[in-house]
Amino acid sequence: MADPGKDRSVGHDVHPEERRDGISKGLTNYGDRGFSLFLRKAFIKGAGYTDRALERPVIGITNTGSAYNPCHGNMPQLIEAVKRGIMLAGGLPMDFPTISVHESFSQPTSMYLRNLMSMDTEEMLRAQPMDAVVLIGGCDKTVPAQLMGAASVGLPAVQLVTGSMLTGSHRGERVGACTDCRRYWGRFRAGEIDAEEVADVNDQLVASVGTCSVAGTASTMACIAEALGMTVPGGASPPAVTADRIRVAERSGQVAVEMARRGLTIDRILTAEAFENAMRVLLAMGGSTNGIVHLAAIAGRMGYQLDLRALDAMSRNTPVLLDLKPSGDHYMEDFHAAGGMATLLHELRPLLHLDALTVTGRTLGEELDAAGPRFPQHVVRSLDNPIYPQGGIAVLHGNLAPGGAIIKQSAADARLMEHEGRAVVFENAEDLARRIDDPELDVQADDVLVLKNIGPKAAAMPEAGYLPIPRKLAAAGVKDMLRISDGRMSGTAFGTIVLHVTPEAAVGGPLAWVRTGDRIRLSVSERRLEWQVSEEELKARQAAEPLVPPRAERGYKQLFLTTVTQADQGVDFDFLMATESRGAVPRS
Ligand code: FES
Repeated sequence: MADPGKDRSVGHDVHPEERRDGISKGLTNYGDRGFSLFLRKAFIKGAGYTDRALERPVIGITNTGSAYNPCHGNMPQLIEAVKRGIMLAGGLPMDFPTISVHESFSQPTSMYLRNLMSMDTEEMLRAQPMDAVVLIGGCDKTVPAQLMGAASVGLPAVQLVTGSMLTGSHRGERVGACTDCRRYWGRFRAGEIDAEEVADVNDQLVASVGTCSVAGTASTMACIAEALGMTVPGGASPPAVTADRIRVAERSGQVAVEMARRGLTIDRILTAEAFENAMRVLLAMGGSTNGIVHLAAIAGRMGYQLDLRALDAMSRNTPVLLDLKPSGDHYMEDFHAAGGMATLLHELRPLLHLDALTVTGRTLGEELDAAGPRFPQHVVRSLDNPIYPQGGIAVLHGNLAPGGAIIKQSAADARLMEHEGRAVVFENAEDLARRIDDPELDVQADDVLVLKNIGPKAAAMPEAGYLPIPRKLAAAGVKDMLRISDGRMSGTAFGTIVLHVTPEAAVGGPLAWVRTGDRIRLSVSERRLEWQVSEEELKARQAAEPLVPPRAERGYKQLFLTTVTQADQGVDFDFLMATESRGAVPRS
C-alpha cells in the first residue's frame, strides 16, 4: 500500500541525510549516515509513522508514570494533553520512560536515587532524537532530577509538574499530606488519639493522585520551576485532577514546539537572574529547605555555585508572603484559587529580575503584565503585611557547622530560636530508633537532640532530621525541641530543626565528635551555631575516635559514595557538575 503521508515536497529543502534535527538528529553510528537514517526510519515506521510525520520537529516527553508513584497518577492524561499541544503546534510527540522516584517507595531514601534519575534523564535526552523535551515530574526528587539532567544537555525544555493532590476530610477537619500526617502521628504517639482514629485519618490524608498539598518539596519545586521560567505561566499551582492542569499540559506541548523552532535552549533561561528569582520565591513561600539543596544542584549543572551567606542576606529582606502549611494555614488548591504564582510574583515584583526569559520566549515581566487581573484573596499577603518579616530560611555558621547549616525559621518555635542546652546525642538513625522512646532515656525538654551520620555520604541524606520528640516528653505535652543533624527534613515538617550541618559527620565534620552532655548554643538572630568545646578537647576526641568512612564494594552505591558532594553543592555527583564556573548565586 502506498504511504498516504509520503510527500517529498513537504518540509525542508535539505535532503533528509543532511538534516541534523528532528528524526535525523544524533544518529546511531554505523559509519554510514545515510544507512543510519534509513535504518532508523525503517524501524520507526514499524510503529506506523509516515514520512510526513517524521519530517516534523520531534518533541520528547518523559513518562515518569509508575504504579509505585501515586504522585504521578495522572501521567496518562498529562501525556495525552501534551501530545495534543505538540500536534496542534505542528510537532511530533515521542514519549519515553525514565525512572520514577516516590518518597515512600525509595529505600533507603529518595535522595539516593535523585542523581540516578538525573543521569537517566540526561542520557536519554542525549541518546534519542528530539528537538525539545517536555519533562513531566512532580514528586519531590523528580523535578530537580529532570531539571539537573536537562540543564546538562542544553536542549529546549519545558517542565510540567503533575500538580498537587486534593485535600481530604477527617471527622469534619480538612487534612492533607503531609503536614497533617506528621501531626496526627505525633498525636497518636502522645496518646491523644487511639489506633482506630489514626487508621481512619490514614484514608483521608491523600485524597487523590498528585503531589503533597502543602508547601513541601514538591510544591516548592513546582513554584521554583515556574520562578525559574521553566514552566508555562501558571504551571505550578493547578491541582493534579483539574481541567486547569490538563490545559497547562496542552500548553506545555505547544510551547515546546515553539522553543524548538526558535532554538530557545535551556541555558538562555537558567541564568543567574533566574536562580535569584527562584531563591526569592523559595524564601517568600516559606518553602521546603530541600529546595536549597536542589537549587544548588541545578545551579551547579549550569556552572553556578550557591553562596549560602548571600542567600541568607537575601533572606533578611524577603518576607514570607504565602500562607501555606506548614508555615501557614492553607493548601496548594487554595493557592491556585488565589491566582497561583501570578499573585505571588506580582507581590514580589520589586524584588525580582523581570527581564529574565521564560519558556514562552517572553520575559517574566511580560508574562506578569499579561496575567489576569488581581482580585481579593487570603493566601498571598502583601509585602507590607507579611506572615513572617524575613525569608523562611536562615543560614547558620559556627564551629559546629563551618560549611553552614540551615533552619526553617518560619516553621520553628520562636521560644527556641535563641537557645542553649545540653546535647543528647544519637550516633545514627538506628541508634535514634532504638533509644528515643526508651523511658530510661536521660532527656529534658530544654536539651538539644543531636543526630549524627545522616548526611550525604553516611546515609544519602534522608529526611530524618525531623527527630521525634521522645515519647515520655511528648506525653508530658512537649511539642518542640531544638534538634540538630547533618540530614534533611521533609518540607511538610514543623519545628526548631537545624539541618544540613556541613561538613557532615561522616567526612570529618565537627558533628562527628559531639557527645551527650556537651553544651550547644543556637542564635538565629546572630546566625550562629556554637558548640562549647575547646580546640584541644576536639583534637583529643579526634585522636581517640578516628573516622571510619563509609564504603561500598560495587555498583551504584560505590559511585555514590565516591563522588557525592556535600549539601552546599547540592549533593550532586562531582563529575556531573559543570566544568566551567559562571560565578556564585545569588550575587551579593
Ligand atoms: Fe510525592 Fe509528597 S510524596 S510529593
